[in-house]
Amino acid sequence: MKACAGWRPFLLCFPLIFILPHLFSSVLELHQNQAVRDAPNENSKKFDVLDSSVGDDAPKKTTTKFDHLVLGPAAGEGLSNRLQCQGVKALNKTHFSNSPHASGVVFVTVFTIYNNTPDTPMNSRLSNLVTVGNASYSKPERSMAILNVFINFIKVRMPHSNVIILTDPESDLSMHQNQVTVLPIRGEYSRDKLMLQRIRSYITFLEIKLEKLSQEKGRITHFIFTDSDIAVIDDLGQIFDKYQDFHLALTNKDQPLNSGFIAVRGTHDGILRAKIFLEKVLEAYSSRYMKASRMLGDQLALFWVVKSDASFDAKRFSKAQAFTKEIGGASVLFLPCATYNWTPPEGAGQFHGMPLDVKVVHFKGSRKRLMLEAWNYFSSFTDISDMLCLILRSGRTKYDF
Ligand SMILES: *[C@@H]1O[C@H](CO)[C@@H](O)[C@H](O)[C@H]1NC(C)=O
Ligand SMILES: *[C@@H]1O[C@H](CO)[C@@H](O)[C@H](O)[C@H]1NC(C)=O
Repeated sequence: MKACAGWRPFLLCFPLIFILPHLFSSVLELHQNQAVRDAPNENSKKFDVLDSSVGDDAPKKTTTKFDHLVLGPAAGEGLSNRLQCQGVKALNKTHFSNSPHASGVVFVTVFTIYNNTPDTPMNSRLSNLVTVGNASYSKPERSMAILNVFINFIKVRMPHSNVIILTDPESDLSMHQNQVTVLPIRGEYSRDKLMLQRIRSYITFLEIKLEKLSQEKGRITHFIFTDSDIAVIDDLGQIFDKYQDFHLALTNKDQPLNSGFIAVRGTHDGILRAKIFLEKVLEAYSSRYMKASRMLGDQLALFWVVKSDASFDAKRFSKAQAFTKEIGGASVLFLPCATYNWTPPEGAGQFHGMPLDVKVVHFKGSRKRLMLEAWNYFSSFTDISDMLCLILRSGRTKYDF
């Protein structure tokens, strides 16, 4: 799910594309050479540091994906509204809301396991193992680990929230954890249909909730539909209090819109209109973008629905400010990606560092290892701001998964 990408930042970063692999390969060399030279001290060296002063006399390697943490410079240095770091120590305390919320928030994610790996010889299975911290993961175990870390962050940062996992009834996903429910929803969850199925599952879920809502009256529960490769950093319940009159909220940074975060107000109106909105997205997807890359189709469809609204004003979308817009009968809140969907890969350059009020970090692409490493770091040192420095300094690195 390509998050929050625009063309301008891409162009700005263009020269870096040539420089970075060069830097990274130098560091890889450095690491490998040191690993050989001072093997006994290997454990005392916690992270590699990407230092632009690293010499380049070593021969080049083409490998640019890392199987261990690599730190680079922290973007946004010297900007007063951006996180400042010294090593992985945060110099600023990030701003977190700590007001309790009257309504509950439930996170909803679509997740399925693909158990169809043919019987592989034992040693090829072993060579597919990756190690993070003191645990080794096969491919399916990696996606489970990411799902677990997603849940862990929610439990720590929003302890009153629950997680609902929408899954293929065929996949034997069983989670025995407090605050977590698995809800099988029939559909076609094959890899190349997953993004389409995801919207379908969301719609089915909203239908179920709509039905329940008319039966039971009581406390309102809001829903946030997200990818599972995100870390919730701050209480997101405040969105529903701070912005009183939206039905659904999306994150936006230029275009395309990102589909990895959709907040839905848990009122009858909110659920109904969000459902109708998603049905339009589904329609646009099935009729226009079936040929688009399996990752991008839902975003293009989402953007198409927004763009085809008569009052579409591209200028508003290029500003990093929240605003609300009526689209097809729904009141849609657009939240700035920099805060609500901060993505490490472009994040460093695109958002010029990390805002002090960052609420969601999205580990898109080859940053899943960083997500696990960030959680491990946070669970040992418990300082969320320091963990954010680790992410900020490491987010440009391409990892092995
Ligand atoms: C963040 O920390 C830096 C370094 O200590 C300081 O110069 C800057 O003013 C701080 N920013 C805020 C908003 O507090
Ligand atoms: C290693 O893993 C165990 C659980 O399997 C955990 O309790 C322990 O803290 C871990 N140690 C380190 C150094 O991460």
